[in-house]
Amino acid sequence: MHDWHHLIREVADFPRPGIRFSDITPLLADARGLAAAIDAMAAPWRATRIDAVAGVESRGFIIGSALALSLGTGFVPIRKPGKLPARTLHEEYALEYGRDRLEIHADALSAGQRVLLVDDVLATGGTLVASVRLLRRLDVELVGVGVLVELDALHARTRWPHPDITLESALR
Ligand code: PRP
Ligand code: MG
Repeated sequence: MHDWHHLIREVADFPRPGIRFSDITPLLADARGLAAAIDAMAAPWRATRIDAVAGVESRGFIIGSALALSLGTGFVPIRKPGKLPARTLHEEYALEYGRDRLEIHADALSAGQRVLLVDDVLATGGTLVASVRLLRRLDVELVGVGVLVELDALHARTRWPHPDITLESALR
């Protein structure tokens, strides 16, 4: 398989001093790297029935729609506040400073549908934990969570509050 790990660029002190940012734009721009990365993310789920991929704005949209195509499913967006036009559900989550919220259309998925939740990076886990809460309120069957990159140093996996939901990362 084409090597893609080196296409994720670490940028020091972005967006604030002391933060090391995982920049996936070089990977997104590389045709073979992108295909290999999406393949690696799809691999754990190929033998599982998945009805829909849900991805988190904004980088999770890019990864999630590519993964949906790869797995042969549709894509459902989980968005930042005020972007979705129809009736929404929302969940708040803690940021390093303050709080933010994520929204999903109340009719985006039907009860019992088998959903894979994806994002580009698992850092503290706040984004994905709030997204799990949103999906659970729609009574879907959350088959698992997939990320491209897991930042091990932040220990989100050890604090992951859903032992019943498998967490897969393509790169740690
Ligand atoms: C980044 C990244 C993940 C999230 C991970 O998104 O894309 O979604 O942070 O962090 P966490 O595990 O600590 O919650 P960000 O909110 O920066 O926005 P973006 O995707 O629009 O760039
Ligand atoms: Mg994001």
